[in-house]
Amino acid sequence: MSDSWSPAELALAERMSRRDIVSIRQFSADELETLLDIVERFEGAPPTLLQGRVLAALFFEPSTRTRLSFESAMCRLGGSCIGFAEAKNTSTAKGESLPDTLRMVEQYCDIVVIRHPREGAARLAAESTHLPVINGGDGANQHPTQTLLDLYTIRSRCKRLRGLKIGFVGDLKYGRAAHSLIEALGMLGNDLTLISPASLRLSERRLEDLDEMAVTWRTSNQLAGSIEELDVLYVTRIQRERFGDPLHYERVKNSYQIDAELLETAAPEMIVMHPLPRVNEIATDVDDSPRAAYFEQARNGLTVRKTLLALALGVRP
Ligand code: NCD
Repeated sequence: MSDSWSPAELALAERMSRRDIVSIRQFSADELETLLDIVERFEGAPPTLLQGRVLAALFFEPSTRTRLSFESAMCRLGGSCIGFAEAKNTSTAKGESLPDTLRMVEQYCDIVVIRHPREGAARLAAESTHLPVINGGDGANQHPTQTLLDLYTIRSRCKRLRGLKIGFVGDLKYGRAAHSLIEALGMLGNDLTLISPASLRLSERRLEDLDEMAVTWRTSNQLAGSIEELDVLYVTRIQRERFGDPLHYERVKNSYQIDAELLETAAPEMIVMHPLPRVNEIATDVDDSPRAAYFEQARNGLTVRKTLLALALGVRP
């Protein structure tokens, strides 16, 4: 990679400067690839790049990786962090609206990352403040920063982002990490196999979106017969917190378990990904296999989030 930024990289950095990151659809397929080129440039980003900048991390829903990696990214670039991990300790518990919370928070920081149980909450937050807002997950809808780290991991492992055979398994109804990644991989022209219990299929609306993008896809409810040809198997957790009916969760919670024995039927090069946290859908006997990419995904999250914070703040190394 050359030292100087390409015209496409410069144009994308300009377009992202002072802007929100709410949905993966705000990037074209080419822009996604350009953005990952920029992420590579951040592998050695100077530790003072964001000195004096403050991130507000507003987490209205549980999080480990997303919040900690955003906070770590900010600290490692010399910035600092404020925020909360539990809305019950904030004025939200007294009835404050999300727009009012944002109007307050914007006085104390330069950039906001928000995670919220309601679909569309990140967009509402973005409309409520002039500061850049990054969506750290809005309900069952979108998780764009997870998608960028997933794409970065796929590109680094498979050496390309197009023309791959990618399987998704688990909760395709409620899984926001799967939703955003399916959209992005569809845009990039990959072949998708969608494996889930019938009651947790990808919605008709999302399947129609894939058709509009002319994506080749198929659905299945079982792993056997579906994974043998894949380049990537993306495993997801059954999203218990989004189920209205606890009995439904009980029925589907152990639908799939990926273990070393099952993986013997897969192509030797196939990698196994997971946004984490896992419950029991990947056995620990897979962890030491060269196929396992999930801890690497979490590590890549740090560099990806450094990049996104800097670009949204209009700063380049
Ligand atoms: C995901 C999420 O919160 O959507 N976790 C994450 O950010 N890595 C996936 C999940 O919770 O299952």
